[in-house]
Amino acid sequence: MKILAQYSAILEEALQHTKFPEEPHNLYDPLRYFLQLGGKRMRPMLTLMACKLVGSPLEKALPAALAVEYFHNFSLIHDDIMDAAPLRRGQATVHEKWNAHIAILSGDVLLVKAYDHLVSYDAETFKNLYSIFNKTAVEVCEGQQMDMDFEQRTEVNEADYLEMIRLKTSVLLGCALQMGGIVGGAQAKDSQHLYDFGEQLGLAFQIQDDILDLYGESAQVGKQIGGDVLANKKTLLSIIAKRNADTTQLEELMNMERTTNPELKVARAQELYTKLGARSYCEVKMHFHHQKALEALQSMSAHNTNSELLELSEFLLTRSF
Ligand code: IPE
Ligand code: IPE
Ligand code: MG
Ligand code: MG
Ligand code: MG
Repeated sequence: MKILAQYSAILEEALQHTKFPEEPHNLYDPLRYFLQLGGKRMRPMLTLMACKLVGSPLEKALPAALAVEYFHNFSLIHDDIMDAAPLRRGQATVHEKWNAHIAILSGDVLLVKAYDHLVSYDAETFKNLYSIFNKTAVEVCEGQQMDMDFEQRTEVNEADYLEMIRLKTSVLLGCALQMGGIVGGAQAKDSQHLYDFGEQLGLAFQIQDDILDLYGESAQVGKQIGGDVLANKKTLLSIIAKRNADTTQLEELMNMERTTNPELKVARAQELYTKLGARSYCEVKMHFHHQKALEALQSMSAHNTNSELLELSEFLLTRSF
């Protein structure tokens, strides 16, 4: 934990450093508010750790790390509008505290400002980073669109789900690591291993996020519990519950979906998904992808010194928030 706290301190200090203008305050206050709400900062940590792992000082990766964290926060501000989420990091979401128009625009500024950090690299490095960053940004949008499209669909299978979460979540972890590797001067082979580690870690992380969404404690998770069920999201939990259900249980699932009282609906989903083995299945899948992530890390030429990435992945997958 000590090492993660050190990374966290470096990042918080760097984030404090970037000042936004005061006016128009309805544009910049939400940004300041959101960035100061905290968060695990795991993506920029991955960038810094990857840079260090390939043998360069982590400070070199700081601008790339900040670009990734800005992009992530932009995506969360917009995601909360799409998911009609009231809570984030234990506080009101931007669209709740201000309104959706403000959340769109302040999110946009955060996205634009992400590029300012990338510009600090030399032309060759910038070109490399820019291309990975933009490819990833489009993929995240594709994943987010699939996530919303699935709300309206009844037939979504495990493979569809995995592709959706790979796009909306995993690619950004892969990108964060690969950017750290590039800045640190990694060989192409290692940069790919770093990406693969991030991709598998991201799958495990999003499955865990879905479990916490339904079974976590609101005070710890900092989000509304059961938000996915209420929004009719197709999570691995819901897909597996349906797949495992017999005719009577399918009827029970349909009754749950029709329940209008939100507390009752969430409680019923918790009970049914556990009974149908969906929760335990998700836990197994989460560990499976974590394991695959670790294998990718083992393939790296510098794998003897990867203990920081191991510690971070361990922390992420045993977290309660
Ligand atoms: C939330 O990410 C969005 C997902 C991909 C599940 P985090 O859980 O990393 O959010 P913060 O930054 O720590 O709040
Ligand atoms: C969000 O997934 C992924 C992105 C923001 C791109 P979720 O919608 O599950 O994330 P949370 O649960 O709101 O953090
Ligand atoms: Mg969401
Ligand atoms: Mg979402
Ligand atoms: Mg979620």
